[in-house]
Amino acid sequence: MSDGVAARAAAARTLDEVLHRGRSLKSALAGGLPALDDARDRALVEAIVLTALRQRARCNAALDGWMARPLGRRDGALRALLLVGLAQLELGLPAHAALAATVDAARALGRTHQAGMVNALLRRAQREGLPPAAPEAVWPAWLARQVHTDWPQQAEAIFAESANTPPLWLRVNRRWITRDDYLVLLADAGIAAQPCPELADALRLETALPVAQLPGFDAGLVSVQDGAAQAVADALAPPAGARMLDACAAPGGKASHLAEREGSLRITALDVDARRVRRMQEAFTRLRLEIDARVADATRPDAWWDGAPFDAILIDAPCSATGIVRRQPDVLLHRRAEDIAALCATQARLLDALWPLLAPGGTLVYATCSLLRAENALQVEAFLARTPDAACVPLDARFGIDTGSGHQRFPGQQGRDGFFCARLRKT
Ligand SMILES: C[S@@+](CC[C@H](N)C(=O)[O-])C[C@H]1O[C@@H](n2cnc3c(N)ncnc32)[C@H](O)[C@@H]1O
Repeated sequence: MSDGVAARAAAARTLDEVLHRGRSLKSALAGGLPALDDARDRALVEAIVLTALRQRARCNAALDGWMARPLGRRDGALRALLLVGLAQLELGLPAHAALAATVDAARALGRTHQAGMVNALLRRAQREGLPPAAPEAVWPAWLARQVHTDWPQQAEAIFAESANTPPLWLRVNRRWITRDDYLVLLADAGIAAQPCPELADALRLETALPVAQLPGFDAGLVSVQDGAAQAVADALAPPAGARMLDACAAPGGKASHLAEREGSLRITALDVDARRVRRMQEAFTRLRLEIDARVADATRPDAWWDGAPFDAILIDAPCSATGIVRRQPDVLLHRRAEDIAALCATQARLLDALWPLLAPGGTLVYATCSLLRAENALQVEAFLARTPDAACVPLDARFGIDTGSGHQRFPGQQGRDGFFCARLRKT
């Protein structure tokens, strides 16, 4: 196979697994990409699959309106291939090459009998563009209802923004280079970037590119991290020399940021998932940071805590990920209503188990990338009600709207992800 046909076929297989076989996007990409030798093909597959998932509402509207016979449950592979074709037109790839490669991919996938139909449908999309469709249509009904209930004013914007392609945010490792000097390295490499005035280490690139193309990536000069996540270091702001716990730390984005900002911090970074801890250790090595990384269940301190209180604790809790649908559009396919109660129970256990480990006067930041009040403000409110020595200390408007029990940001605001963050002080 040549001329990108293998990439289109791989994209169709990946999409089929995510859409119809319950596989997560991350694991489907990890399974499919290594078979492609060319890094450009791998980047193309990722871009096509992400665009198809983000634009699923409009792609579905095209298929529903244009197919002579509605696609059924057994037409998953064909649906995936058609979405791959439509996504390429949305991405603005040269239409002739995209169409030809997708039709060839139909043959390569054993669908020669459908190649003519694929060609005709994609030609129509090329002529007419995708029809409009409400982005909310691809949200599970229970979740869309909850977003409307929690954020009646913002719901429409949340659905619309969640279908957009996010910018690429970088975090410059100020331990080894200033942001201004890194901007010069980027300019020399022909990469345009904007510094974010509110976030001291953040740069924003409008166009995504593979990390291997970022100057000094392997030498640890820079990491990829959304602007909303970078604000957490400002919310916690541990003093120099503080003993700090990052309880849910992998893959280590926020722990590294804190260590880059203040070399004297003594950070313990825990995570319950051994594979993710290995990735976190690799990140610390690349960034040349010394952080004590351990596999441990943060809700069971008796198994790992030495009894010395922490001055600062970060709980970046496992959550519904409803604020990062732009980056992980498969959240809408795989999240179940019953997950929310289980996640809320884990979040409450983390708060209750770790609060006694905080020194008097110490600060705990509770953060999620969720939009749901149950995981965010209501979680913090309930914690404050049962914890007499805890007080919520408001942050400023940079952290989003003040719910009274923490601050909420919505996806797309200033290009950042949806995020929640509450700063709690032990009185
Ligand atoms: C939102 S992610 C953390 C992201 C990380 N803070 C960063 O900035 O890169 C949540 C993490 O919590 C971990 N986790 C879930 N339950 C845990 C527990 N009981 N103890 C420790 N880690 C846990 C998950 O494995 C996952 O890596």
